Amino acid sequence: MNGRRTFLKNALITTAAVSVAGCTASAVEPKDEKTSKKNPNSHPGIPLAIATWPNLRATDLAMQAIVFGGSALDAVEAGAKVPEADAGDSSVGYGGLPDKTGVVTLDACIMDDKGNAGSVTFLQHILHPISVARRVMEKTPHVMLSGEGALQFALEEGFKTQDLMTDSSRVAWNKYREEMQGKAIGEANHDTIGILAIDRQNRISGACSTSGAAWKMHGRVGDSPIIGAGLYVDNEVGAATSTGLGELVMKTVGSFLIVELMRNGATPQEACETAVRRIRDKYFADGGKDVPQVGFIAVNKAGEHGAYSLVNGFSYSLYQGETNEVYEAESLINAG
Ligand code: GLY
Repeated sequence: MNGRRTFLKNALITTAAVSVAGCTASAVEPKDEKTSKKNPNSHPGIPLAIATWPNLRATDLAMQAIVFGGSALDAVEAGAKVPEADAGDSSVGYGGLPDKTGVVTLDACIMDDKGNAGSVTFLQHILHPISVARRVMEKTPHVMLSGEGALQFALEEGFKTQDLMTDSSRVAWNKYREEMQGKAIGEANHDTIGILAIDRQNRISGACSTSGAAWKMHGRVGDSPIIGAGLYVDNEVGAATSTGLGELVMKTVGSFLIVELMRNGATPQEACETAVRRIRDKYFADGGKDVPQVGFIAVNKAGEHGAYSLVNGFSYSLYQGETNEVYEAESLINAG
């Protein structure tokens, strides 16, 4: 997808680097840590749709769903389906880079304004995991289905299987196999879509969908399908979602943290900044030249938004009022 950022600027991270504890300081400087009250592009106003990364088609379809009478839940599902079906997006759905064994495995979750949630993890061969997650939420007594069971449920619900590899993801995987001999998890791309929407009835919903880290271990599940980590919605307060190295978000329960901070009076921007700072302080207190990316977006009930990332380079798409635009997010660390 044009304009997408490669998350990890420094070519490869090793499995050890994913566990992050050992990163040491060098090329990065923390920015001024003064907390922003507000994102400069933020103002109250509903309806709105906001998504991680340059995903204007996703925010556009989300807003269309709202304008034509759909709910915020319809909006976020419609939005998430855009990169899921985009062969040019190498980190979500069709065309997503596979795991170490050459298999594309998908994670997704969805939450509505009533606090209902649905999730699928380690799902294979299905184009729209977000829609399966919605069916899990609406048609089962459970929140999360995984792997073979999730696939079986999808098939029972009428979803069709398909090959999710594209010519270019096959080329990339073959290159990875030849050059890396299976030793590294690869130049990670974690351009997960997280999307939040508020409809005209002031209902908030969110969705999150990814193929996860390229060349991940077979069976690895990231933050995106984990309620509270990759996504959290509380209709009384607001919502948050994440992109980036899921292990860091899972260990800090980032999206739930952001919503709770907003519940206690933080603006969406302040809450995103605190969640990012928590990750930096816990795992990269000494800095580190291979600091991976994590980015959050959040909205509150009034339609104000926040966005912040660990490393510079994160952007988000916002459709509010008449404007559907991509904005560069502020970040804690400037990696050049
Ligand atoms: N945030 C996506 C992942 O780490 O899988």
